[in-house]
Amino acid sequence: MEGIRESAVNAVKFISSKCAMKPKIGVILGTGLGDLSKKAQNKVEIAYKDIPGFPVSGTQKGHSGTLSFGTVGGKDVVFMEGRFHYYEGYPLNEVTFPVRVMKELGVETLFVTNAAGGMNPGYDKGDIVAITDHINFMGVNPLIGRNDNKLGLRFPDMIEPYSNELITLAEKCAQENGIKLQKGVYIGVTGPCLETRAEYRFMHQIGADVVGMSTVPEVIVAVHAGIKVFGLSCVTDRCIPDELEPVNIEEIIATAQKAGPVMDRLIELMITNM
Ligand code: HPA
Repeated sequence: MEGIRESAVNAVKFISSKCAMKPKIGVILGTGLGDLSKKAQNKVEIAYKDIPGFPVSGTQKGHSGTLSFGTVGGKDVVFMEGRFHYYEGYPLNEVTFPVRVMKELGVETLFVTNAAGGMNPGYDKGDIVAITDHINFMGVNPLIGRNDNKLGLRFPDMIEPYSNELITLAEKCAQENGIKLQKGVYIGVTGPCLETRAEYRFMHQIGADVVGMSTVPEVIVAVHAGIKVFGLSCVTDRCIPDELEPVNIEEIIATAQKAGPVMDRLIELMITNM
């Protein structure tokens, strides 16, 4: 982890020269879910490629590669429009670097969204799921290497990676506004293959409700950094082993885009009521 903090400080120096905002709230927008930032007011946009130390976004569809700042529900927010995935070949220190930058900017609460496969038979395609816990099934961990004690503890506690307070707030906002909200455990895999039937069966049996190829590394680093997390998955495809249908990525993105406004609304309500 050597040099990460210095790189984050350097990135923030550049960002601060472009934008005076010091948001306490960060949002990572998942595949097909980039619209909340479009509703933000007083927007300032900075391309990832211009930020020193930032990895450069690939050609992943549905992602734009912009760090943007704006006001939502009367609060300053920094958005990652487009994230980095391990399957694209980025090492995890790069995948999670934006979270280090957010911490250095002063972010205290992080919202993370993603598109995920639904293994819980009680979920429908298009449902949104508040993540209550996760299983790191990626076989790697972004904290491997020498620990920088200024970034966080060597052995961070994972007793409550997703803030119970924020889950309760989400449930309250959902209930009061007629939003259907599921709760469940997210399992993070590397991808890029989707899973076999046997893998879905196994992952559901070990306690996971949704599966996806992101989120876990960013959340681990957020916990390491002492940032409170709320995670929200959109069920883009049903992953019930005996009913499995061929899926294509365009369909997954289209489903995420359809559910996007509901996720945006919930996050906006939560930010407003924080
Ligand atoms: N597996 C992994 N990631 C996903 C899936 C899936 O089935 N659906 C959407 N993202």
